[in-house]
Amino acid sequence: MNEKTVDLHVLMCVCGGIAAYKAVEVLRLLQKAGCEVRVASTQDGLRFVGSATWEGLVHRPTPTSLYGWAESSIPHIYLSEWADAVLVVPATANTLAKMATGIADDLVSSTLLAVPSEKPMLVAPAMNVHMWRSAATQQNVETLKARGVRVVMPVEGHLACDAIGEGKLAAVEDIAGAVLEALGSREDADSSRALVGRTVLVTAGPTHEAIDPVRYIANRSSGKMGYAIAEQAARRGAKVVLVSGPTMLDVPEGVRRVDVVSAAEMYDAAVAAFDEADIAICAAAVADYTPAKPADHKLKKAYEHLDMLELVETRDILAALGSLKEAGGKRRYVVGFAAETDDLIANAFKKLEHKGCDLVVANDVSRTDSGFGSDTNHVSLLSASGVEELPTMTKTEVAARLLDAIERSLFIAS
Ligand code: CTP
Repeated sequence: MNEKTVDLHVLMCVCGGIAAYKAVEVLRLLQKAGCEVRVASTQDGLRFVGSATWEGLVHRPTPTSLYGWAESSIPHIYLSEWADAVLVVPATANTLAKMATGIADDLVSSTLLAVPSEKPMLVAPAMNVHMWRSAATQQNVETLKARGVRVVMPVEGHLACDAIGEGKLAAVEDIAGAVLEALGSREDADSSRALVGRTVLVTAGPTHEAIDPVRYIANRSSGKMGYAIAEQAARRGAKVVLVSGPTMLDVPEGVRRVDVVSAAEMYDAAVAAFDEADIAICAAAVADYTPAKPADHKLKKAYEHLDMLELVETRDILAALGSLKEAGGKRRYVVGFAAETDDLIANAFKKLEHKGCDLVVANDVSRTDSGFGSDTNHVSLLSASGVEELPTMTKTEVAARLLDAIERSLFIAS
């Protein structure tokens, strides 16, 4: 890691575990990278590394409780506002459980609860293998991930309790690297910082339109393209809200997922999230039609006219977001996908215009290396400035190229 001169505030919350001594090394790495670091420790954390060590390293008094700190009478609010990013290291099972349930009964848990949701929050768990694997801890970790907390996963190794298994704190370089990545403090060109701190809304996956309680209309979308975009945007320092239809995919690191089932639910969730968004990328394969009157009981094929389903058109989410993109005096960047089998570029340009998009990803779904379920995609990026045809590449690479294009436009516009 190189010396840098960025002025980023990182709050390190240290908990009571044997790995607390490694938090000292993480702090040094972050300082070397140019971050200003402050520390809040739990009382148990102070048993492992005392406040004299922390104060010596951060050159400032370190609060040890909610009371009696000279710098502020409300240290949890002060610290949560001061921080650009918050790292919990080592994150114990107890602190993860408190974070997941919102318990605020000491300095660290109160501070964590007070951190505004748009700030990057990271946890680096370390504990006994059974505590880590317990259903309770795993559920808490999933809850936190779904809220957008980035988890620097523990690794396998020889644990302090003499057990061998998962639960060892990740490498200190990986933890510091994850914080810098979350802050977007990367060594790329200036334009690649354009997503840092921006809110990106992504729609992904199929929708399911209920016919009755057991049947629905769906499509073959796997959600992979939208999830790859969400993951890549989070890695570039964006705050990502992923509105997802039913898929088999895990929530990407650092992404907040809103689960929906139908096109109507996806519309509501996307429009609600759009208010806060700076960029919207509609990658979902939304059903164009939905049953007009879904039945509340399983329809009987013999006499309930399953062959005569009445369908009504769903509302177009992308077109709605395109029409709202300047609402509230803010200019948002809107991206759509065009899945076509014929006249790809001409049809995609029509969608760019009709749906109020800044960019359209045109996807020829008749190709075998592209489209639904495939791990690769062959797309062209269309905007007012022209067409860029990309070679066949993985969906992760397509996501990266799409975000590069968005970052370039935002950088030029800023
Ligand atoms: N889309 C949407 N809401 C809908 C339908 C589509 O947000 N109800 C979005 C998709 O997420 C995608 C884009 O619109 O970004 C294009 O979808 P596509 O299926 O290619 O086009 P349609 O508008 O459905 O038009 P057609 O089926 O006639 O090509």
